[in-house]
Amino acid sequence: MSTAHYDVNGEIAVIRLDNPPVNGLGLALRQGIVDGIKTAEGDDAIKAVVLIGSDRAFSGGADISEFGTDKMLAEPILTTVINYLDTAKKPVIAAISGACMGGGLELALGCHYRVAKPDAQISLPEVKLGILPGAGGTQRLPRVIGVEHALNMIVSGAALPAKQFQGSPLFDEIVDGDLLDGALAYAKKVVSENLPLKRVRDLKAKHENPEGFFMFARNTVGAVAKNYPAPLKCVDAVQAAVTKPFDEGMKVERDAFSTLLQTPESKALRHAFFAERLTSKIADVPSDTPTREIRQVGVIGGGTMGTGISINFLNAGIPVTLVEMKQEGLDRGVAAIQKVYEGRVKKGKMSEDKAKACMDLLTPSLSYDDLKDADLVIEAVFEEMGVKQSVFESLDATCKPGAILASNTSTLDVNKIASFTKRPEDVIGLHFFSPANIMKLLEVVRGDKTAKDVLATAMKLAKTIKKTAVVSGVCDGFIGNRMINQYQREAILMLEEGATVQQIDKAIEKFGFAMGPLRMADLAGGDIGWAIRKRLYAENPDMTKMVVADRLCEMGRYGQKTGAGFYRYEPGNRNALHDPEVDRVVDEVRAELGITPRKISNQEIVERCVYALVNEGARLLDEGIAQRASDIDMVYLTGYGFPIFRGGPMHYAEEVGLPNVVRAMEAFTDTHTQPGFWEPAPLLARCAGEGKRFDERSK
Ligand code: NAI
Repeated sequence: MSTAHYDVNGEIAVIRLDNPPVNGLGLALRQGIVDGIKTAEGDDAIKAVVLIGSDRAFSGGADISEFGTDKMLAEPILTTVINYLDTAKKPVIAAISGACMGGGLELALGCHYRVAKPDAQISLPEVKLGILPGAGGTQRLPRVIGVEHALNMIVSGAALPAKQFQGSPLFDEIVDGDLLDGALAYAKKVVSENLPLKRVRDLKAKHENPEGFFMFARNTVGAVAKNYPAPLKCVDAVQAAVTKPFDEGMKVERDAFSTLLQTPESKALRHAFFAERLTSKIADVPSDTPTREIRQVGVIGGGTMGTGISINFLNAGIPVTLVEMKQEGLDRGVAAIQKVYEGRVKKGKMSEDKAKACMDLLTPSLSYDDLKDADLVIEAVFEEMGVKQSVFESLDATCKPGAILASNTSTLDVNKIASFTKRPEDVIGLHFFSPANIMKLLEVVRGDKTAKDVLATAMKLAKTIKKTAVVSGVCDGFIGNRMINQYQREAILMLEEGATVQQIDKAIEKFGFAMGPLRMADLAGGDIGWAIRKRLYAENPDMTKMVVADRLCEMGRYGQKTGAGFYRYEPGNRNALHDPEVDRVVDEVRAELGITPRKISNQEIVERCVYALVNEGARLLDEGIAQRASDIDMVYLTGYGFPIFRGGPMHYAEEVGLPNVVRAMEAFTDTHTQPGFWEPAPLLARCAGEGKRFDERSK
């Protein structure tokens, strides 16, 4: 089935791209364009061709559903299509509205003329997937908008509105009215004035001081690109556009494209791209499951989390009723929300009108009665089962039938919370991360009785408030925190074995984490983990204790909030400073435990921390808590600062090779750790043995 339609309008042929939603350049569409050009060329009555997409998109580039399939590489590939346009004997005019991205822009650049709506979005975003434009984008864009501007767009992947290019050869005309009418009028002008076939490849990409400019570009791009090889390859390709004839420049681009496609960084970025799209798919909840309307939200608790959670909905234009116990707490919560909006206005990130409109959607209240019309209520009160119980009993008594009752608990049993109501099917966990108005991650905790439409509604709502939602089953810590506990445990045990605080954090930060485990513990507050540990020690008397961490907490060193933890902090400053007092505590604990400190390599630090995540992740998969390994990766990429260029812990382990991970883990059995801790999870052992990736596992 062709996804390009051919029509005739007088002397002009119109090829309309029709591959919703964004005219991805799949095989059928590519073939349709070529067929259309051939038909037009074979018809003497046709004098020019207009190539047009939909209002939403001229074309969003490659068809992602073809990624990794034979169709992507089947002729006509995009460069072949573009060559057809470029060498067509009749003028081809691209008519552009909506998204004109990546391959879509390259397609347009292969046409002789281009007209566009002023707000059409123009970009070459390939760098975001660790590659570069591979169908002439790096060679043609500098020829029409100038070398510096093109390089900026290619290394940033940023989208710009078409009107910004008015007057440049990128667009021959900006059309304010109907795009097809404008394009046809332009095509008629080309025919009547007998205008030449303008080929972008025949233009020159010029720069007055190319050597100086590209040296400067390499320095600045290199400094920002850090762990990513693609941006520097973009510089090489754009330089070739200036210094080499067109066909040789195309070869430089092609070679760079093939090289980048094989890099681990690009694999990781592409993995993350697809992983993000997969998170919303739930095996037993079809995508057409009806959802409940969420027009009004209630939030209980105006503390750290409740205020951040409220802002998400206010930003999305959904009214929020914020309930607190006492006026003082309520005032504090409202003031905290107000402060966030003031900050955004001050930084120029939001207009004053928009901030006011958001604040106008907020209704502060001291009464649960004000929640009776809410479609969704999220509680973010103290983390105590007794408090949760009284809140959920009140909600059950107050809320209308069909309202969704959600808990933001980070550790408590959502099934138990649901049992406090007579409607456990309406109860769900919505675990936001702090600061809740900023962090992308939302763990959606599915209770045993949570109704499918409640789950579907939560997933849809997450998109409305721009979160990456990952489904988790009920367990202690859900996906993210259950894994991070293992990672932090290893970090602290290595401290006792011989590493230093600074060495551990530096090794992990060099691996690419935004923050090392000990700095992170100081930021989160040591008291929370300590309370959890005390409970675990009581439940499991044989458990290896994290003595250094416990000792620091006993000394009141809870991290940043008390000015001291694994580091010390100057008042009002978040810089983590070396504290000899911590070294003394570590020495003391080593002596008490009879540990002779040994030299621990940075490699061991990274492997023990990261493989602790991987092993726990494999257990979560086996238990069905996480649906797929790529969901675990998304939790880590969006909620825990795991380096994106490594694709998340599970993807990273697969790239290292699961048999290698298992072998490394076996070597850690002798370390000062919990007996059995380094036993590979059954799923990990099985995948390693069968040579499979996690998500290829047999069910
Ligand atoms: P917080 O102590 O900052 O705020 C709790 C607020 O709830 C207080 O303002 C308190 O007055 C209010 N409150 C308590 N009982 C209430 C009741 N019956 N009715 C109305 N308001 C009541 O606590 P935070 O940090 O915001 O945590 C809240 C919940 O979010 C907890 O369940 C916690 O485990 C969870 N959470 C916390 C995260 C964090 O990083 N702080 C991250 C993710 C989840």
